[in-house]
This record gives sequence, structure tokens and C-alpha cells, in this order.
Amino acid sequence: MASGGTGDELVFFVNGKKVVEKNVDPETTLLIYLRRKLGLCGTKLGCGEGGCGACTVMISKYDNLQKKITHYSANACLFPICALHHVAVTTVEGIGNTKTRLHPAQERIAKSHGSQCGFCTPGIVMSMYALLRNAPEPNMEEIEDAFQGNLCRCTGYRPILEGYRTFAKNQGCCGKRGNGPSCCMNEKEENAVTISSSLFNPAEFQPLDPTQEPIFPPELLVSDFRTGICILPWGYAALYQETQNSKPHKQLCFKGERVMWIQPTTLQELVALKAQHPSAKLVVGNTEVGIEMRLKNMLYPVILAPAWIPEMNFVQHTDKGIAFGASCTLSLVEKVLSKAVAELPPYKTEVFKAVLEQLRWFAGLQIRNVASLGGNIMTASPISDLNPVFMASETQLTLASTEGKRIVTVDEKFFTGYRKTMLKPEEILLSIEIPYSRKGEYFSAFKQATRREDDIAIVTCGMRVLFQEDSHRVQKIKLSYGGMAPTTVLAVKTCQKLIGRDWNEKLMQEACHLLADEMNLSPSAPGGMVDFRRILTLSFFFKFYLTVLQKLSQQLNGNNNLSEMLPSSYLSATELFHKDPIANVQLFQEVPPGQAVEDTVGRPLVHLSAAKQACGEAVYCDDIPHYENELYCTLVTSTKAHAKIISVDTTETQSVPGFVYFISAKDIPGSNVTGIANDETVFADDTVTCVGHIIGGVLADTQEHSRKAAKAVKIKYEDLTPIVTIEEAIEKKSFFKRIRKINKGNVQKGFEESDHILEGEMYIGGQEHFYLETHCTVAVPKGEDGEMELFVSTQNLTKTQEFVANVLGVPSNRILIRVKRMGGGFGGKETRNTILSTVVAVAAFKTGCPVRCMLDRDEDMLISGGRHPFLGQYKVGFMNNGKVNSLEVSYYSNGGNSVDLSYGVMERALFHLDNAYNIPNVSSLGIVCKTNLSSNTAFRGFGGPQGMMIAECWMHDIAMKCGLPAEQVRKLNLYNEGDLTHFNQKLEGFTVQRCWEECLESSNYHARRKLIDEFNRQNRWKKRGMAIIPTKFGISFTVPFLNQAGALLHVYTDGSVLLTHGGTEMGQGLHTKMIQVASRTLGIPTSKIYISETSTNTVPNTSPTAASVSSDINGMAVYNACQTILKRLEPFKQSNPKGSWEDWIQAAYVNCVSLSATGFYRMPDLGYDFDKNEGKPFCYFTYGVASSEVEIDCLTGDHKNLRTDIVMDVGTSLNPAIDVGQIEGAFVQGIGLFTLEELRYSPEGNLYTRGPGMYKIPAFGDIPSEFYVSLLRNCPNSKAIYSSKAVGEPPLFLSASVFYAIKDAIFSARRESGLTEPFRLDSPATPERIRNACVDIFTKLCPSAEPGTFKPWSVRA
Ligand SMILES: Cc1cc2nc3c(=O)[nH]c(=O)nc-3n(C[C@H](O)[C@H](O)[C@H](O)COP(=O)(O)OP(=O)(O)OC[C@H]3O[C@@H](n4cnc5c(N)ncnc54)[C@H](O)[C@@H]3O)c2cc1C
Ligand code: FES
Ligand code: FES
Repeated sequence: MASGGTGDELVFFVNGKKVVEKNVDPETTLLIYLRRKLGLCGTKLGCGEGGCGACTVMISKYDNLQKKITHYSANACLFPICALHHVAVTTVEGIGNTKTRLHPAQERIAKSHGSQCGFCTPGIVMSMYALLRNAPEPNMEEIEDAFQGNLCRCTGYRPILEGYRTFAKNQGCCGKRGNGPSCCMNEKEENAVTISSSLFNPAEFQPLDPTQEPIFPPELLVSDFRTGICILPWGYAALYQETQNSKPHKQLCFKGERVMWIQPTTLQELVALKAQHPSAKLVVGNTEVGIEMRLKNMLYPVILAPAWIPEMNFVQHTDKGIAFGASCTLSLVEKVLSKAVAELPPYKTEVFKAVLEQLRWFAGLQIRNVASLGGNIMTASPISDLNPVFMASETQLTLASTEGKRIVTVDEKFFTGYRKTMLKPEEILLSIEIPYSRKGEYFSAFKQATRREDDIAIVTCGMRVLFQEDSHRVQKIKLSYGGMAPTTVLAVKTCQKLIGRDWNEKLMQEACHLLADEMNLSPSAPGGMVDFRRILTLSFFFKFYLTVLQKLSQQLNGNNNLSEMLPSSYLSATELFHKDPIANVQLFQEVPPGQAVEDTVGRPLVHLSAAKQACGEAVYCDDIPHYENELYCTLVTSTKAHAKIISVDTTETQSVPGFVYFISAKDIPGSNVTGIANDETVFADDTVTCVGHIIGGVLADTQEHSRKAAKAVKIKYEDLTPIVTIEEAIEKKSFFKRIRKINKGNVQKGFEESDHILEGEMYIGGQEHFYLETHCTVAVPKGEDGEMELFVSTQNLTKTQEFVANVLGVPSNRILIRVKRMGGGFGGKETRNTILSTVVAVAAFKTGCPVRCMLDRDEDMLISGGRHPFLGQYKVGFMNNGKVNSLEVSYYSNGGNSVDLSYGVMERALFHLDNAYNIPNVSSLGIVCKTNLSSNTAFRGFGGPQGMMIAECWMHDIAMKCGLPAEQVRKLNLYNEGDLTHFNQKLEGFTVQRCWEECLESSNYHARRKLIDEFNRQNRWKKRGMAIIPTKFGISFTVPFLNQAGALLHVYTDGSVLLTHGGTEMGQGLHTKMIQVASRTLGIPTSKIYISETSTNTVPNTSPTAASVSSDINGMAVYNACQTILKRLEPFKQSNPKGSWEDWIQAAYVNCVSLSATGFYRMPDLGYDFDKNEGKPFCYFTYGVASSEVEIDCLTGDHKNLRTDIVMDVGTSLNPAIDVGQIEGAFVQGIGLFTLEELRYSPEGNLYTRGPGMYKIPAFGDIPSEFYVSLLRNCPNSKAIYSSKAVGEPPLFLSASVFYAIKDAIFSARRESGLTEPFRLDSPATPERIRNACVDIFTKLCPSAEPGTFKPWSVRA
């Protein structure tokens, strides 16, 4: 926290209010200060590492040199409190609220359905707000760029962009192109059904009035600071003069418990301080140092902040280039270079363009707004995006120390080792001069990352060539790479050999051979992806070669044969990535004419908490105000995957200030045994079975103290052999006991009757939930009879209650679990929250104090498990026309170290092994592997997506084998109405065929397929692909008794209704839908009904909010409770038919009629017997079809999602806005699963991917540029409330259409190399997998090392 330090006074403003802080601890971030000290909880903690944007705020300061106020977005989680002196901070609370007026940035995201769980919403609002403060009428590109640093796990981004598009100059439905088949221009009436394409009405939005914005604190305007940055390059001297004349600030110093922050005002002071403290860190943006201190456990006792040093904050055009002070932010560099590129002759700006290209994909805007140019160089990261450009361009640096200044060049000697440079400890980097290019000189920069936006490079490079005058003979060449060694490197040998050579095919071939040799990597190299990285070095060079060839041939005006060397089909390989304009339409059936206005069922009612979420008023678990005597708990977890605990030494924790107690198994009053299958312990006793296994918890007065104390716990282990991967588990037969089979028909006979038999294997990686709100529990002991109240972020109150009662040794009636809302769940909070809740409960019991714990993102990712990785082995028999006869499959999942929900997940995978296809003969086996990983658990789809994915894999293989279009083979095999599935359930109301036809038509599938073929003929290095994929998803828990729900309805004498039901709100809009149901049933407006929370003392024995059925079962329970009340009101209605709701309620009350009712529902006729293969596991099915088109870059493995069309049967939608939101959100989450998100482990079972830095969920730029969603019309479902259907999970699998479109595109690329047989592509289809599958001359130059001959850096689970 801020207090606890000593030193000078820190003065800043938050939302217009002055803050004067006397005792600042430099380790405190702005986020902690806002949330803890000021109680401003609207700004959220999503990751703490600048990777999610949930903590975005706006920083404003007066720039004394520009004489203007500047505003920019920044990540509060990395912003050091000490850097705030004399700046103004605006948080989401400062721009609008629900009590007075919402700011348009808040109103529009809420009303356009851009807020589901709402945890990301304040950050997104603030990114938009900061943009609007700088550009009240931004264009769409600026809006998209503003969100590069924001993540949302729920919405699929489309509604956010759609809502904010209304601020844009170039707004309009689909950019007013009006040419899409689903364009709203085509809005139509069909057989008295009105199809609507608008989920909100922009006419309702308040206009943006920039004059209404809060004013900048006048006190900061008149201050005479030296914080300004000169961005007027040509006026440098005069402005610098002005700086010299301005009254200098006084040096600041803040001392905390461990760190001292000194902010000098002159260069002399700075270099003197650096001489005095040679190991001191200079901190500008803190985007590197902040991460090192928080995540890498580094401690820098002295920090020097050069923010006020004029010589480090300037821009100057010189004879040789543009010089930037080392503290200039990357946003400023971007601005200055863009201007230079626009104004200077193109030949001079080749290097500048390359820097700009790198900055385009450098972090998010919040980071670029604070991160410095000098910080990037001096971090000396081997994957810095800028250093290869600086090395290839021979950028010059000015260094300073008490000894004076010296100039050095960024060359192969500058970086001396991993994160080391040739600077002396007492030296600082003063400025950077980026050179102009010359005539005959060409420069390119390339970067390949897992995700395009806000991701660090896998390989990055800067490449320069200078030709002898008027020729294409190489005079000088520099090829510099990042990601190929512990430092940025130069391909010295290759470059030497190319000098004097002509720029032609021969040079290219030779350069690639040389590079393959020089840029070699050990197969065990840190970072992994060895083959891919090697191939990329060649691919980048090839792109450079083509780009230069193209420019040269233009330059030399055809006085050469160069243009002949460049086939037109190669040209697209030189194109830089560009975003296509976004377009999207959502079509849904409007309510029938005559439906009462106040009846909101079927209307796109806005999520009832959306406005509060957008204003930062919505309360999440960690927003609950702190109790006076509250303690914080930090978990102490195993660093070994499998080991015996020899000793736990807590001696050093005692000396950490604020330390209170270390809890462990010995403190448990009840039972240590826990878990769904009673095969887990709350605390490890003598053996740990995964990295992240909870051993104990450290309690202290604050989170910071408890963290520090936890780091002081020393544990000794004796290593045992871990099992990490499915393959290892198969080899060692490490399986959980229950093995499931579903068999139908005669598989052997089916094979015998088939024309072909194919065998294959597919691996589908796991997935991290990445809910924006991590696990959190606050436990409050009540002091009487073992009572305890717990606020928990959980989907499963009942299991939490049961497990806490069990560990405390009290009956469940003493334990109250309360959930207001969650910041996302997706299955991750269905059971795994209990591993934290039980620990926190024990801590509260032991100390008698309230105890809180919200996991850090890295802890959450490490310990709470995720989606099960699957390995599918298949043998499929089929006819020449692609008709499937017989299938034999074995599914293996990686369950981790406990059963948890793994059996259920495997069962659902087996139920979905057919996807939507009729397979006459099936033999299937499902085995859960027991490994030394954190227990895997429920995740949206619950095994269904994995089961279906393998079906689509063999289906795709069949099409390739038969040489038939995949869509033809899929269509041929689809079920028909009345067919029996492989588990013998009859398909009734089977609408896949309808969805299929509509999707084909609305996506213009066949015509576009022809265009794709044409595109592929014309482009060698870019390929397009397309796929159409159906889905059929079984609705109900497969454990029959879970399909029950309760509700409690209180009507108060003023007519207001308090509704409670068994489901929890995690953004999916359940409470909104339940209020719609109650409103229609009771016949009163939704405004009279309120849901406060879900709790175990209102509705007991709830099923988890999961399996997509919550609206179905809770909706029926709510309906049932409403009916009870209505029945009781009937006499009063009859006696006063013209009376109002309030009249009848009053009458009932005075007549002593109960106005409180419970409701209950259970799904009928469910139950399935695996042994007999009979019964009914599902109540009904939800169906859908999606078609997707992608473009891949065969050289880099990059891909673009060009277009997706979805047609989904959700019955008669209760709320089309929520249902479309679920479809789009699930689809985009599925894009993550199948194309982006990859968990990587060390061979010893240590998870590397523990935060947004290494684990990439889809960002704004990953959604299809054209995204059309249509809800199937006229398909009421008699099996659920008001004819609706469950929607939460089913659409996720439709994203497989993107995966198979990629596979289709790769197939075209492989054909160029003469490969036409089915090939294996595992999921996710990352750039690495795509590139490696596009076999060509370059891949052949980089052969893989023989498996088994080396130890890889990472393995897949
Ligand atoms: C979410 C996120 C995304 C990122 N994405 C990218 C990316 O895409 N590409 C990329 O290359 N990097 C990326 N980075 C890394 C980082 O943002 C950059 O390296 C940034 O430029 C560092 O600047 P800073 O001012 O924040 O550095 P700080 O953290 O303030 O300092 C970094 C280091 O530089 C030293 N230093 C700073 N200035 C000087 C000076 N004048 N003289 C001597 N030493 C100095 C400091 O002592 C420290 O060791 C990312 C970081 C984050 C958190
Ligand atoms: S919490 Fe700051 S970026 Fe994620
Ligand atoms: S609404 Fe964006 S993370 Fe939930």
C-alpha cells in the first residue's frame, strides 16, 4: 500500500479530487491505491501484467512545452504511484454513473450489449474515453487500435465495436457497403415473421458533448513543471531554451519498506545518482521493471525516474536522422515517425517505416503510451521488436555518465548476453538517433507472434540492403533477428557472403541455405518451436527478397529483368498485413405483432446490470469493502509436479512485517479430504501431485505482506517421477478407474463393407478459462456455533457449502455462501473454486478474522485447471462417395491429478463423437488419464467440443481421401429427422438440415468457394480456405438428478418482487432472462422485479450453473413460483378485475395470504444406461451450422478470419440480444481453443503459460472481419420455458469451421508441393502448426531433429 513509506509529498488528482500522500511506498501501483486507499473499485485487476486492460485509466498532464493538456490511456496495474506527481487520473467512476448520467462511452457499450460479465467493461470504457478525449470523432481504425490492449472473454467483441462504431466518422451498418447477403438493407418480412437486424437503437444514445467533460485541475495547469516533451522537431533549439528557463522542480524521493524512488530534475543529478547507485534501475514506463518485480521476484532497492530530464525527453531532426530522448514514449515515436513518413521523400524513410510496422503490433496502446524507446533497447530482450531494426539500420545511441557522453552504434557487439548490453553500470542511455535511409537502400521489418495484436514475437527481424548505384548489386546488407539466440543477433556470415552479389533467385537460394546454417537452434532451445523459428528466418528473408525485388524493378524503371523474376502469384507475399473493414449483422425473429409492450420475452432487453458494469458500480467479490480486522491469505503451492514433502520451513516468514500465521493441514478442524470424488485434500499432506498443489497459506495484514511472507516459506522435496502427457500416461497405464464405452451395430462388418478404411489420430490441446475475474473468496466467521458467511466467485454454491462444512466439521446449515455475480466462469468456477474457498474458510476459522484471497492470474492459471486435452485415435470405414459405414474411436483425456468432473467430461465427449452425423456402426472407448498436472475440469462444452472435433477430423480426412468437397461429404452424412443416435436417442425436431441450407445460402457458399479456388490459383504464398460445420449439442446434465432447480419469490406490499433462484450470474444474462420470465408470468413490468444475489439460505441444494440448462431449469422453477403466487392472487383479481397489481397484492396481504412462494422443477424422463446403451441422456438438442473463410500466409503461418456466417436454432429466443451474445462469445472462445490458445509445460510438468503475456486468448482483431449471425426462425422448442432453447455451450464448437477452413487452405498450399494425401493437423492451429504443415522449399531446409534424441523445452499435455 501507499502508506508505509517516508520521504517527499506526492501530489496528484483523481477524478478531480486532490490527493496528497505523504508516506508513499514505491512498490505500490496506481491500481492498488485506487482500489484499497480510495475505495474506487471500478478499475479492475485482471492480470497485473499489462496484458488485459481491465485496469485501464486515463492519465492527463499539462505538457509545458507543447502548452497543452495531454490525455492517454494507461494500465493502472503497472503504473507506479510515485510516477503520478502532478498528474490527473480519471477512472471509470469519474466520467459518469447510474445515479446522475452515464457518459456516452458507458451508455453505448451497455446498450449495444457489449457488457456481459462486465469485468472487462470499465477498462474498455476507459480506453474509449481516452480516445474520445483526444479525438471526439475517431475513425474506425482508431477505435480498433484503442482496444489493442483490452481483452474480453465473454462478448466476442463484436457488440463492443458495434456500439462504439456510433462514435465513428465512418460509421454505418457494414461500412454502408450494402453488398453482403446478410446486410440489413435486406431486412425482410417472411410469412408474417419480421426479421430484425438491430439489437439496439442508436437513436436512443445521448450525443457526445466534449464540452461536458470534467476539466483538468487548474492547479496543475499553472504549475511550472519540466515534464513536457518537445514533439515539434524543427523547433528544438528554441523550445529547449524555454525548458532551460522554466523553473526547475525539486528532486523527489520516496522510501518504502524495500525500495527507494528518486526523481531527479537534471541530467547532472541523474548521472551523479547513477554513479552513486550503479545497480539502480531507471524506470520510465515500468512495463518491464514492474513485471520483473511482480512476476519474476526481482528486487531493485533504488529506482531512478528520469521523467523530468529534458535531455531524455526531446525529439530532433538531425542531418542523419531523427534523434529521440531515451524516455520518449513509443506512442510519441509513432506519431513523430508517421509525420516524417508523410512529409519526407520515401527513399529517406525506409527505416522509419520499418519501426512503424513493428510499433503497429507492439503491445497495446496503454503500454505504448508509457513505455519508452530507451526502455525497450535497455531491457535488451532477445525478442525486442525494435532492436533488430536498430541493429540492421546501425542506429546510433548517445550514452552519458559523470565522465561525459559517448556515441555507440547498435551492432553485433552491443548486446553482450541475455538482457545485457555493453553499457557500463554507471552509464545511462541518453538518446537514440534513428537514421534516414539513402537512395538505393531498402529496409523491412517482420514479426511473427502467436496472436497478431499485443503479443511478443516468436521471431522478429530487421533487414537492410544497400545497392551499388543504379544497379541491383549488393553493396551492404544487414539481416538482424530477434528470437533466435539469447540476444538480438546479426547474420554476419550470411551478410558477408552476399556482398557484391546480384539480387536474384540465385542469391535468394544461397542466402536461405546460409541462413539455415547460421540461424540454427538447438532442438532443446528455450522457447521451443525450434523448427518454426528456423523456418521463419528463411521465410522472412524470402519476403524481404521479394519486396526488394519489387521495389528495385520499379526503381530501375524496367532497365533490368527483375520484374520477370517476380511472378504475379508471388506478389501477395510482399503485402503487409492489413485489416479489412468490419461488417456484421445479427438477424433474429421479432416478437409477434400484438405482444404487449411490457412483455419483454423475445425482445433484446439489455443485460440488467450492464449500466452498473459500465460505470464500475457493479460489485464483484473482491470489491466487497474490507473488514477492519481482515487478513489476506496467499497460497503456498508446490513447485514440483510429483514429490514427497520433506520439510516446510516458515522461520523466515516471522520477520516479514504484518505476518500473522501459516495455515496447513494441521489446522483443519474437520476433514482434509475433499473433491468431487473424495480423492483430493485441502492441503497436501506428505506428497504433492502437481505444480501448484496447495501446501499451505500465509496470513498477513495486507496482500503485499502476505505475498512477501509466502515467498519466504522454504520447502524441501524429494523428487518422484512425474507423468505429464497423455502419451506418458498411456505408456504407464496411468488411468482413472472408470472407462466408458458406447457401442452400436457391428463395427467389423461395417469395415468389411467399406470401400476404404482410414486410420488417424488427432490431439486437441487444453484451454485455460481466462475468466477476467480470477478465483476469489472472502470468508467471515460469525463467532457463533460455527457459523461462517462466504462471499465466493462460484458457479456452484452447494458444493462450496458442502466442502467448506466438511473441512470445518460443521453441518451445512452453518455455512452461508453468497454470490452476487462473477466476472466470468465458463465452467472454471463449477468445482475448482472450492480448492481456494476451503483454504480461506480454514484460515478464517483458525484466526477468527475475516480472510480474503483473490488469486493472482499466474496462480489461478497454475492451480485451477482447465479444459481437458484430448487425444483421439480413430479408424473409419467409408464408401467411395464419402458415406461413413463404421467407426472405431478411442478417446484419451488428460484429467490431471484428481477425478473432479473428468468422468462427466469424457462421457459427454463420447455422446458427441458423432457430431451431427449418422454412423451406422460405432465402437468407442473413453479413458481419463491420471497425470501430475492440476486437475482439469469443466469448460464450456464439457468434452462435447473435443468429441465433435475428432469427428470432423475423420470427416475431413474422408473428403480428402475421396477427392470430394468436404461440404458434400458432410452433408451426405448428416442425420435426418427421426434418426437414432449412436446412444439410441431419437432425434426429434432435428433442424440441422434447415440450418445447413440457410447457412449455405446466406453465406453464398458455393459462389465464394469458386472465388477461393481462383484466389488460390493466383497466389502461391497466400491461400484461402473455407469450411461449413454443423453442431448438435445435447441439453441436460448427464447426471440426471442435477437437472433440478428451485426458486423463491417474495412479493412486498408495495408490489415489488424479490426473486431468487438457484442459478448464478456470470455474464450470461441468466438473471435478466429470469426476470423476463417472471415478468411475463406475473404480467408485471420487469422494473418491479429484482434479483439481488444467489445464496444458500434462500434456495438450497442448487445445481451448479452449468451444462447450458440454467435458463431451462431455473426458468421453469421461477415460472412455478410465479404460478403459485398468481393462484393465490386469483380471488383478489376476480373481485377487482380492473385493479392493479399493487391493489391485488395489498388485498392479499390484508387478507393474510402468503406473498412468498417457492418454485421447483425437474427435467422429466432422463437417464441413460451405458451398459445397455439405452435410455435418454438428453432432454433435447440445440443445433447450429457455421461457415467460415480464412486466409493463411503460407510463409509465416499467420491467418486472417475473413468471414463467418452462423445459423443457430435457439428455439424461440427468450432474449435475442443475450442469445446472440452467447453465440458470438462462445464462437470467439472457440476460435481461441482451436486456433490460438496453447498451454505449454516443461517436460517436468511445470506450466509456462501463466498469464496473458504467454497465453493468448482472442483479442479484438481476431474476430472474423465479416460476422453474420442469424437465429433460425419458427422453431419453438416444446421442452423448455417459453419455447426457448439452451444456448451457452452449443455454439462454441461452430468455431471448428475456422479450424477446418485453415486446414482447407493448408491443403491448397501443400498441393503446390505435390502433396494431396490427408495430413495431420492438431489443435490449436497456431502459426507454428500452420507454417510447419505448409511444406515447401524452406521447410525442407530446416529438417526436424529426430524425436527422442533431445529433451524438448516444452511439451503439450
Ligand atoms: C503487456 C506488455 C506487452 C509488451 N509487448 C512488447 C512487444 O510487443 N514488443 C517488445 O519489444 N516489447 C514489449 N514489451 C516490453 C516493454 O514494454 C518494452 O520493452 C518497453 O519499451 C520498455 O519500456 P519502459 O519505459 O516501460 O521500461 P522500464 O520498465 O521503465 O525499464 C526497462 C529497463 O530499461 C532500463 N532503462 C530505461 N531507460 C533507460 C535509460 N535511459 N538508460 C539506461 N537504462 C534504461 C531500466 O533500467 C530497465 O532495466 C511489452 C511489455 C508488456 C508489459
Ligand atoms: S490488470 Fe492491468 S492490464 Fe490486466
Ligand atoms: S464482459 Fe468482457 S470479460 Fe466478461
